[in-house]
Amino acid sequence: MIPDKAPGEDVLHAPEDLKKEAHIPSFEKYKELYIKSVESPEEFWGDIAKDFFWKTKYTGKFLDYNFDVTKGEIFVKCMEGATTNICYNVLDRNVHERKLGDKVVFYWEGNEPGDEKTVTYRELLQQVCKFANVLKSQGVKKGDHVSIYMPMVVELVVAMLACARIGAVHSIVFAGFSAESLCERIMDSQCCLLITADGFYRGDKLISLKLIADEALQKCRDKSFSVEKCIVLKHLTKEDEATIPGSLSPPAKRACPDLQQEKQKERIKKVRPSPQVPWNPEVDMCWHSLIGGASEECEPVWCESEDPLFILYTSGSTGKPKGVLHTVSGYMLYTAATFKLVFDYHPDDVYWCTADIGWITGHSYITYGPLANGATSVLFEGLPTYPDVSRMWEIVDKYHVSKFYTAPTAIRLLMKYGSEPVLKCKRDSLKILGTVGEPINPEAWQWYYSVVGEKRCPVVDTFWQTETGGHVLTPLPAATPMKPGSATFPFFGVVPAILNESGEELEGPSEGYLVFKQPWPGVMRTVYGNHLRFETTYFKKFPGYYITGDGCRRDKDGYYWITGRIDDMLNVSGHLLSTAEVESALVEHEAVAEAAVVGRPHPVKGESLYCFVTLNDGISYDQKLEAELKKQVREKIGAIATPDYIQSAPGLPKTRSGKIMRRVLRKIACNERDLGDVSTLADSSVIDELFENRCGNQR
Ligand code: PRX
Repeated sequence: MIPDKAPGEDVLHAPEDLKKEAHIPSFEKYKELYIKSVESPEEFWGDIAKDFFWKTKYTGKFLDYNFDVTKGEIFVKCMEGATTNICYNVLDRNVHERKLGDKVVFYWEGNEPGDEKTVTYRELLQQVCKFANVLKSQGVKKGDHVSIYMPMVVELVVAMLACARIGAVHSIVFAGFSAESLCERIMDSQCCLLITADGFYRGDKLISLKLIADEALQKCRDKSFSVEKCIVLKHLTKEDEATIPGSLSPPAKRACPDLQQEKQKERIKKVRPSPQVPWNPEVDMCWHSLIGGASEECEPVWCESEDPLFILYTSGSTGKPKGVLHTVSGYMLYTAATFKLVFDYHPDDVYWCTADIGWITGHSYITYGPLANGATSVLFEGLPTYPDVSRMWEIVDKYHVSKFYTAPTAIRLLMKYGSEPVLKCKRDSLKILGTVGEPINPEAWQWYYSVVGEKRCPVVDTFWQTETGGHVLTPLPAATPMKPGSATFPFFGVVPAILNESGEELEGPSEGYLVFKQPWPGVMRTVYGNHLRFETTYFKKFPGYYITGDGCRRDKDGYYWITGRIDDMLNVSGHLLSTAEVESALVEHEAVAEAAVVGRPHPVKGESLYCFVTLNDGISYDQKLEAELKKQVREKIGAIATPDYIQSAPGLPKTRSGKIMRRVLRKIACNERDLGDVSTLADSSVIDELFENRCGNQR
């Protein structure tokens, strides 16, 4: 339960001037609205829904659900019977009803400083309508699935909203994933068309995206799944480059990105190679040629509340990614409300979320949430350390960013360089700072709060998941006294509980499994194509509850503290990875008989990947093999999963029934000699050998 009064001691408060204008100005107001949201969800969300356009009103219950597997199939339905269109609500409504057509929706800031572009709501609506017509001309219709594999460019938002406009379901794959991962996701989500780009730069590194996309499509064909249409945005190359049948464009000098304004073109000093862009005219179509002739008129397709909006893959503990499916109305209300209240959004704000749209944070808090509120955002293509470590703060000053949202891993990375790169920028526009993706250690929290925010900006530590659609545990900046490292209290409509191993709810200060007792509008509806997996993963262990997979502690003041994953998942730089997925990539190498992967604490990334591999007879471990194994994982999953450490392990600690004891391996990876209870270990002689040959000595 939420305490009546927020604690007065050992907490940090928002400045008074922030409270004056805040949507939720006090803890008492939070508590009053929280009770309303839980006891009368229909009334609470009904007020929020009034801001949106509904072609038809809902007819049934506001929220209908079953969270108990013992009582039948798990389902959540929000506003059944209503019809709407999320693209209409985030664009047309803003342009026509709210008269925000000339308001900037995105300040796009490219990888290279000076590479920039400004887009208004009206311009975005025009581009989206045109591209929606392009999709229709390619035969895409309501209910079809479209895969999007693009860098952080405005056209990525255009592509996703164009899908939403015509009722097609987008499945965005982060542009850092490998061909194998893209292929797996395209096939699992049954996509009929792929939208990609020629390539992009991450800092100095050229990523030839189209080459990877082609490899993925070939892998699909090899598995008898054919995607016959691929739309390619020429982000780095010129429109007419490399459209010769079967040709591979020679590395050329880099042209300026599409729609680049002349004066900015000149400012790009560096001349760099362009990506190679293989072109198959049977499949490939140029974005620019298609959109050039398309009409700006495109009537939205009215969708049912529970029609699917998108599929987004997240790691699963079996190793096979899960296609998390979100639906139209509930997701729209939830992302809009969380954005407005958690960032205390006001119309003159400039908001910047540094996540990639390929992850849920980008879906909810770069595209849908901010646009539903008519916000102006920075859309950043580059890296926090390129060309130097002041880049983030320079961008904050350049666009007068007032609300800034990033990941603990980025904070820790920048912290390493000290305060000077931060202090040389003014940052006086900043009002609220946010974090997401993993537990933030109090030291990083304090640095963010004191150095970046000069102790005048509340930090909102937002806990949520791909599955939850939006923030579920989070401070509200003017209302919730902060405790560094705690995600504090539930958002409206969210009812958390802490369970022990037997599934009993713990009261008061306690630690255990974090679960939720009832749905909120933005919760996922199913795992695409595998409803049973949805039920098994999230609802089976504790009937009646949604299980997050995270451990959690509640302190004496009722504050929630996430303690990290309690399943076989790792959180590397804020990205979830399943140990099974990395293990299966490793054992696919002919030298490897068995693999076990565990997390080892890392000062910047949160966790690093520590892999134990048992090699096949007669094979010895050397640097060449290590490099091959790292490459293998990169190619199977993507660079984010590259192992940090690989240890050759002639034997692994196993129970008598043959189960690998990861708990013991975690201790070995961290060089912790106190192994706890090892009575179930089949052969304890492997332990000494593993300690002796562990990688590195420091923790
Ligand atoms: O372990 C939690 C961690 O990230 C997981 C969700 O990962 P993903 O679905 O990729 O979504 C990340 C962005 C929403 C959670 O189960 N996590 C996320 N935010 C926090 C967090 N752990 C602690 N504190 C947070 N604020």
